[in-house]
Amino acid sequence: MSNPSILILPGDGIGPEVMAEVRKVISWYGEKRDLQFDVSEDLVGGAAYDVHGKPLADETMEKAQEVDAVLLGAVGGPKYDDLDFSVKPERGLLRLRKEMDLYSNLRPAQCFDALADFSSLKKDIVAGLDIMIVRELTSGVYFGEPRGIFEEGNERVGINTQRYTESEIERAARSAFELAMRRNKKLCSMEKANVMESGILWREVVTRVAADYPEVELSHMYADNGAMQLVRAPKQFDVILTDNLFGDILSDCAAMLTGSLGMLPSASLGAPMANGRPKALYEPVHGSAPDIAGQGKANPIACILSFAMALRYSFDQGSEADRLETAVEKVLADGHRTGDLLGEEGVSPISTSEMGDVIIAALDDSL
Ligand code: NAI
Ligand code: MG
Repeated sequence: MSNPSILILPGDGIGPEVMAEVRKVISWYGEKRDLQFDVSEDLVGGAAYDVHGKPLADETMEKAQEVDAVLLGAVGGPKYDDLDFSVKPERGLLRLRKEMDLYSNLRPAQCFDALADFSSLKKDIVAGLDIMIVRELTSGVYFGEPRGIFEEGNERVGINTQRYTESEIERAARSAFELAMRRNKKLCSMEKANVMESGILWREVVTRVAADYPEVELSHMYADNGAMQLVRAPKQFDVILTDNLFGDILSDCAAMLTGSLGMLPSASLGAPMANGRPKALYEPVHGSAPDIAGQGKANPIACILSFAMALRYSFDQGSEADRLETAVEKVLADGHRTGDLLGEEGVSPISTSEMGDVIIAALDDSL
């Protein structure tokens, strides 16, 4: 059987810098754990625009459809800010998400003990936090028709439509229930069924899907209350399922419970391919950070933890994913910090590649 395949798209700004550290981790798994991957690399975002005049070449799109997992760094930067909307770097990423039909966006919010002081909340509220938000990513108000700015009488009206079909809700719900089965069998679905018909349908479909997962404890919550509960007592949750718009907001809110943007991974999953693996794209939540690009200051952990998610969700290597996450936890506990994680007195920052190196050393220690 051939090795599982990975397409690396480093992108712009700090994307290539953090991806170089992920490369070290991938090589480590090949050498030390005999986990071989067929790795190829291509361009996305501004880097692709510079060569092809568009932010994602058709050949790259085709490759992304064929591989087992895509790992993406970040796209964008001031150099491309004045480009026409149709060729902006972000369009490359949006095209990947759309054409791969990645409907389930997984955003963990996990608090590493060593960074609990970083949270804006009290330490005991966030210490040990480990929750996962599943955001529906391909439908809802960002895509619903009618949309636009229209003339109405003597003024204009801006219109967007929250629209969900039963099958769109069902497939997102299934992916959340599957996830809950691999975790603590606890799922909270958030909508606003009190004021939105799409929310009523959402609640109905999620409840129906729950019948196939009797072991999972399902609860429902209005999304506004969910926002309050997330900052009041986030540890009451395990998996949270929600729609595109609420998920956009709730996942950013949950993520910030735990500290720096440089720590946050994500996965976007679609339908299973012929080999049973889901279509998948893994990327850090942060952008291309032009303010620190090219200076060796970027924190590679968000991108490395995104690869850990790939190990778990694409390659069925849950215990190797645990190993990598534990290695990250260890280097943080040992006091290693990139610039974005500074705060304690007397700690001086290490570089992007030094952070990669201490994580590799911690992986070695784990053997
Ligand atoms: P950003 O995430 O790039 O940066 C926000 C702040 O966080 C900056 O001060 C940056 O230095 C810091 N930061 C981000 N990641 C870091 C890391 N790994 N280590 C240390 N510090 C880190 O967001 P911003 O500044 O709003 O956008 C910059 C560019 O990135 C824009 O062109 C934007 O469109 C693009 N962008 C791309 C995204 C993607 O590719 N998924 C997501 C968000 C923004
Ligand atoms: Mg957002």
